[in-house]
Amino acid sequence: MFQQKSVEMRGAKAVSSKSGKCMTFLPGDLDVPVSQDCESILDLALKAGLDMDHTCGGNGTCGTCMIEVCEGLEKFNTRNEIEQEFADERGLKDFERLSCQNRPQEGLVVKVPHKTDLYKSK
Ligand code: FES
Repeated sequence: MFQQKSVEMRGAKAVSSKSGKCMTFLPGDLDVPVSQDCESILDLALKAGLDMDHTCGGNGTCGTCMIEVCEGLEKFNTRNEIEQEFADERGLKDFERLSCQNRPQEGLVVKVPHKTDLYKSK
């Protein structure tokens, strides 16, 4: 469901030009087609088979699904009440968002911190 980009296509400009109807997960430059059936970025990632942590099951209380927004932060809505409460408690920066509380959108590039590989199996 996702494809890994070639190493020579990495970099912000290349990512933007290739993203089309996808959003991109780092590390790994993984393009995932954005589906309107997915209510959250976490949902999209899990359905694509990516190894995303989600200890609280998407309730916005654990923070294990946190992503760092590399491109497209302007496309995100204002934090909802659940995410804002979590962000206030933990002192999250603007680019640190909960993937379970935000909708996937075309052209986003997000990094999953503390992960070196998002493939569940090789
Ligand atoms: S899955 Fe726990 S905060 Fe998102």
